[in-house]
Amino acid sequence: MFPYKTSIKFDRKCNQALYLQLANQIIQLIKNRILTPNTKLPGSRTLAQQLNVHRKTVVACYEELSLQGWVESISKKGTFVHQNLPILHQQKIKGYQVNNLNINTGFSFYKNNISSKSTLNKKENFIYLNDGISDVRLTPIDEIARTYRRICAKKNIFEHLSYGSTYGNDTLRKVIVNYLNTTRGLHITKKNVLITRGSQMGIWLSSQLLLKKEDVIVVGNTNYKSADTTFLNQQANLKRVLVDKDGIVTSEIENLCKQQQIKAVYITSHHHHPTTVTLSAKRRIHLLNLSKKYHFAIIEDDYDYDFNYNHAPILPLASHDTNGNVIYIGSVCKTVAPVFRVGYLIASEYFVDQAAKLRGFVDRQGDALLELTFADFIKSGDLDRHIRKVMKIYRQRRDLFCKLLKKELNDVFQFEIPKGGMAVWIKLNSNYSWEIITEVAKKNKLEIGNWQRYDNANLKHNYIRIGFATYNENEIHELINRFKKTFYEIKV
Ligand SMILES: Cc1ncc(COP(=O)(O)O)c(C=O)c1O
Repeated sequence: MFPYKTSIKFDRKCNQALYLQLANQIIQLIKNRILTPNTKLPGSRTLAQQLNVHRKTVVACYEELSLQGWVESISKKGTFVHQNLPILHQQKIKGYQVNNLNINTGFSFYKNNISSKSTLNKKENFIYLNDGISDVRLTPIDEIARTYRRICAKKNIFEHLSYGSTYGNDTLRKVIVNYLNTTRGLHITKKNVLITRGSQMGIWLSSQLLLKKEDVIVVGNTNYKSADTTFLNQQANLKRVLVDKDGIVTSEIENLCKQQQIKAVYITSHHHHPTTVTLSAKRRIHLLNLSKKYHFAIIEDDYDYDFNYNHAPILPLASHDTNGNVIYIGSVCKTVAPVFRVGYLIASEYFVDQAAKLRGFVDRQGDALLELTFADFIKSGDLDRHIRKVMKIYRQRRDLFCKLLKKELNDVFQFEIPKGGMAVWIKLNSNYSWEIITEVAKKNKLEIGNWQRYDNANLKHNYIRIGFATYNENEIHELINRFKKTFYEIKV
C-alpha cells in the first residue's frame, strides 16, 4: 500500500482545515500519477489511524475529493481514484517551485517592445531625482480619510457599492463641471465629462479613439515620454515639432498640415513637459484656428494647472474651444498625490460617449467611493485650501533649489527659473556627460535615474528635468551637496 503515513504532512499552525490539507495532498498524488486511476484509497478508519487524525477528517476529505471529481465512492467496495482521469502533462514540481513558470508563458502573445517606465528598488539614504511630482508627505490624508469614512457611514452608501456608470460617479461629474467651469473658464455640462483613473488613462483613451497605424500625431520636440510611448503603441506616426521659449511652434504644425492629414496634436500648454515653458497666447489662438481649419484634435494635457508662482493660472485652450476640437485632460494625481487615481477627460459629448464605452472594456468603472470622496473634497473647498498651502511651500522650494543651483553649480548647469510646475529643465555644460555623472552620483547616494528619457527625440541635448517639489529644505541642501561632491570627484 502507498505509504500515506510518511508522504502526508500536516501543518497544524496553518489556518487551512486538516481535511483540506489532506485532500490537496491526495490531489497532488493523483495529478503526479503516484496514485493512478482505479487505485483504492484506504478505508477512512485505517487512514485516520495512520495519520493520527479524527476519522471525520478523512471522511470529509473523501467527500471533498468526490465532489471535485478526483475519486468515486462505490457502495460496499470503497473509495477509488477516478478511472477516467486523463494524464496531466505538466512540468514536475520540485518542492513548491515550478521551473520557469514565473518567467515563461505556455502560449505566445503580442509583446510590447516600446520602452516604458521601470520601477526602482529604493535603497536607504539615497536621494532619488524625479521629473516633478508632489511631496506626498504634504498629502491631506487625514481630511481625505475622514471624508471617506463619513461617506461610507451614510445611509444610502449601499447604492454606490454595486456596479456603477462607466462615465464615473455622477456626483463627481457634476462637481467637476462646476469646478472646471469656474476655475478654467470651460463651458461644459455633465455629458462632456468622463471620470478617469488619472491623466494617463485620458491620454490612452484619446489615443485609441483617434489613432490607427500610421496616423499622424504631432508632439513637441522633446515631449512627455509616456505620451509618446502611448501613441507609438498605437503605431501612430509621431511628428515632432520644435518647442521654443513660447512653447510648441505652431507655424511648424501649419506647415505639416499643408503636407498631410494630421489627426491630433498633443500639448502640455501650461508648462510644456519637459521644458516647462508656457504656450503663448498668440500660439494658443493659432493652434485652435488650425485645428478648426484642418479638423484635427488637440489633446490638451493640463497636468500641473494648479502650480503657478509668478502669475494666475492661464486658461486652457479648452476654455476657448467652441468647435469641439479640444480633448482636455487632468487629474488630482499631481495636485494631491499620485496614489489617488481620479482624473477627467473633457470633450464633446459624442467623443465622451465613445471614450466611456472603450474604458468599459478595460475598467468596468472607477472607484465610486474614492470619487465621492473627491467630489466632497473639491466641493467643500478642501482641495483649494490644499493647493494654496502647498503652492507656498513649492514656491519656497523652487526658489531655494534654483538659488543653490546657481550658487553652487553655476559652472556646470544652465537653466531658467520655471514660472510654474514642479521641475526645472536643466542643461549640463557640454564638458560633462550625464552618463558619467549618473555613475559617480550613485556612489554619493544620488540616483539620477534614466537620464536618456529626456532625449526621446535623439537631440543629444544634454538636458534633464529635475523635480524640486518633493524635497524639503534640508533635502534640497543635501541634494545639491551630493551633486557638488559628484562634480568635484569627476574633476579630480
Ligand atoms: C505631462 C504629464 N501628463 C500626464 C501624467 C500622468 O498623470 P496621472 O498620474 O494623472 O496619470 C504625468 C505624470 O507625471 C505627466 O507628467
